[in-house]
Amino acid sequence: MYTSMYVCICNAVTEKMIHQAAAEGVRSLSELTRRTGCSGDCGSCADLAEEVLRAAHSRRQVRFNLPLVAQAA
Ligand code: FES
Repeated sequence: MYTSMYVCICNAVTEKMIHQAAAEGVRSLSELTRRTGCSGDCGSCADLAEEVLRAAHSRRQVRFNLPLVAQAA
């Protein structure tokens, strides 16, 4: 069973929710805050939230932006 770590306790935002927001196009902490409330209160989660958002985009980039390899004729 996969469990998701809470990143923002004030707003009950999990790592999984940040990955989902990244998949839906959220690219910055301010967008993430508008979308989920993450980092909108005490702000102590801001660094971790940005790190998780960056990691989510890196993972998506590795998964979806691999260079095409020319096919053999
Ligand atoms: S822990 Fe995220 S705003 Fe407080």
